[in-house]
Amino acid sequence: MKKIRVLSGIRASYSSLHIGNLLGAIDKMIKLQEDPKYETFYMVADLHAITTDFDPNELKKYRIEVAKDYLACGIDPNKSTLFLQADVHEHLELAYYLSSVISVKRLYLVPAFKDKKKDYKNHLERMSLALLDYPVLMAADILLYKAEVVPIGVDQLPHLEVAREIVRKMNLKYKLNLPKPQARYNDINAIPNILGTGEKMSKSEPEGAIFLNDSLDVIKRKISKIPTLTAGGEKIPEKGGVYTLYLLTKLFVPEKINQFENEFFNGTIRYSEKKGDVSEAIFNRLKPIQEKRRHLNDDIVIGILKTGAEKAKIIARETLKEVKEKMGLL
Ligand code: TRP
Repeated sequence: MKKIRVLSGIRASYSSLHIGNLLGAIDKMIKLQEDPKYETFYMVADLHAITTDFDPNELKKYRIEVAKDYLACGIDPNKSTLFLQADVHEHLELAYYLSSVISVKRLYLVPAFKDKKKDYKNHLERMSLALLDYPVLMAADILLYKAEVVPIGVDQLPHLEVAREIVRKMNLKYKLNLPKPQARYNDINAIPNILGTGEKMSKSEPEGAIFLNDSLDVIKRKISKIPTLTAGGEKIPEKGGVYTLYLLTKLFVPEKINQFENEFFNGTIRYSEKKGDVSEAIFNRLKPIQEKRRHLNDDIVIGILKTGAEKAKIIARETLKEVKEKMGLL
């Protein structure tokens, strides 16, 4: 039976992933990897890291560090094809072909681009063409392997929508038969940062994120700063620090969630105790990952990535040939 292909990636823009990446994306990737119905392709999106300002020396490090995180979390190179996006330059070539069917206007409407535009106070001259092209490259990542399932966090859904539009247009215009990719997501990726500001956990706000390599002390220090001014009440808040602590309890200490609710409703809740529980539980989840990571050496990881890229290229070349033929380029 033909397996259903899965593709996903994480941008290599920081040296370590955080618990939002773990619960939002990697856990799903691993589930799919373990299911024999699927053939899984996972990449480090290093080409996506150059869409905003970056340091080449750092990028060189980060792409390997992110690969190590994947491996430490349980991505198994015997079951999944793990590779660096830039090692398979077919991604770039396909992205260019895809860019023939999508308008500049459509890409201006992508929420991530609009948000960045706000950050740059509408200074379009400070925004790279690569940033506008971000969703097109992401579509190329997926279509190159004809992936039908894409495990991602909710924030990535608008990008997948662009990919689906591109598929429709490519198929119509060039008589191709590319499958429409489906997102696999849950709302867990919406882990808020622990500063209680309502923003999602992100590497651009390191004090608000718990990284996979944080020690118990660091986790305790960060968690202790979750703002929990509101005492108990009738309803668990839907945002702010108490909500964050509640969500982390639900995710990491589910056996204590009823107790959390009861104490919140009857006003006896002691947040410092809840913070202690959550810190310990997060660390216990991360400890084996940290342990595994310590044993990964660079040469082995680089070898795994090279083998992965070679495997990926076999499929990438086939798809590219098909697309070029249909476009009159072969
Ligand atoms: N944009 C994704 C992120 O920031 C990373 C990514 C790149 C990706 N290409 C992809 C995810 C293809 C899924 C499929 O996390």
